[in-house]
Amino acid sequence: MKTGKVKRMLWMSAAAIGSIILLLTGVLLGVSGIFRSPAYLEPWEKEYARQFQDPRLQAAAHGLLAANGHNMQPWKIRLDRGNANVFYLYADSSRLTPEVDPLNRQMMVTQGAFLEYVRTAGAELGYAVDIGLFPNGPYDEEKLAESMDLKAVAKITLRKEASSPSPLYSFMFRPDTNRGPYREAALTDRQAESLGSLGTEKLAVEVFRDEDNLRRLSGYVMEAAQAEAGVSRVMEESERIFRANEYEKNRYRYGFSMEGQGTTGFLKHVMQGIVTLFPSMNRGQAASDRFVQSAQAAADHTPAYAVIRSRDNSRESQVESGMLYSRLVLQAHELGLAVQPLSQALEEYPEMAAVYQAIHRDYAPQGSILQMLVRVGQPVKEAPLSMRRDVTELLGEDL
Ligand SMILES: Cc1cc2nc3c(=O)[nH]c(=O)nc-3n(C[C@H](O)[C@H](O)[C@H](O)COP(=O)(O)O)c2cc1C
Repeated sequence: MKTGKVKRMLWMSAAAIGSIILLLTGVLLGVSGIFRSPAYLEPWEKEYARQFQDPRLQAAAHGLLAANGHNMQPWKIRLDRGNANVFYLYADSSRLTPEVDPLNRQMMVTQGAFLEYVRTAGAELGYAVDIGLFPNGPYDEEKLAESMDLKAVAKITLRKEASSPSPLYSFMFRPDTNRGPYREAALTDRQAESLGSLGTEKLAVEVFRDEDNLRRLSGYVMEAAQAEAGVSRVMEESERIFRANEYEKNRYRYGFSMEGQGTTGFLKHVMQGIVTLFPSMNRGQAASDRFVQSAQAAADHTPAYAVIRSRDNSRESQVESGMLYSRLVLQAHELGLAVQPLSQALEEYPEMAAVYQAIHRDYAPQGSILQMLVRVGQPVKEAPLSMRRDVTELLGEDL
């Protein structure tokens, strides 16, 4: 065959392959919803809260930016008809994650995380924020879900006051959780002391930066991740709330997404297209393997861990731990640090019992309870923002 003809044929096959790749990429991007505007990110805009006249909605619009277990955003608010400065926070019993959180402890921590963001925003909005926990009395633990619907977690009162805005305010608009690698550099004494000093009389924050503790805690993190990866009902609970593409993210605005697994930009859309067309790639064994790998990558790039410990495991202590966790997130940001909770070892389902007991034996003296285990460090990259619902979706009937 003549060389000219061979060249032409080669060129034509290359062009054909190129066209197929372009076409496939186009299909993946289309399925991913690359041109959809991400309404699920609107609550992160600084001006978002200001569109509401009612200062209670403004405050709640900040609360929903808080970290929360499984990104379920299980918050309900009810406005007081008789007092325009009062609203109530309820735990949304339709948003429980019973497999991973059978005692609803993380659910309560999540309530506290919301409350502290409301408090931090208050000063910026011109209010002192009074928070009264369980104003209608304690839950009936025998009928917990029902009790959550009937009894508020907190009564929130906004008192007009010329207060000075919190220096931590602007950090509320940053992603709360960074699952990426952190630099090797150890936390400085100032950073570790600043986080440690957030503890209160009832709740301790302890920061670990020495080699022995890092090795031991990373060991627990890995043991726990492996245990969790083997419990299909827990993994499936997470898989059910995975939002594969922009259409689903705009529709649900809660749960997990590709960004949370560390994939962003153009590649995110390619991956979203792939998992939309082939959902099994993100389920079952593949999901379990990825979960363990990401725990390993996290543990390998962690210069410090922090724990939040309470003296007892009352519902109040759980909520207060969440408030403290939000303070820790914001303070960490101010110090140039990022955080990621690694909760598996603290979870109360039977398959985790051995790890739970071991970590409590080592890190929770005198019957105290570990409410949060968190990795801390200087992030290599800023994390992407995660989905949030519109604050009006949190509104229940007025009281
Ligand atoms: C009680 C609680 C437990 C959490 N446990 C984990 C965890 O084990 N692993 C993790 O990566 N993130 C964990 N998170 C972080 C949430 O997944 C995260 O806050 C949520 O997905 C929203 O993302 P954002 O914090 O970046 O806004 C936890 C958060 C809370 C409040």
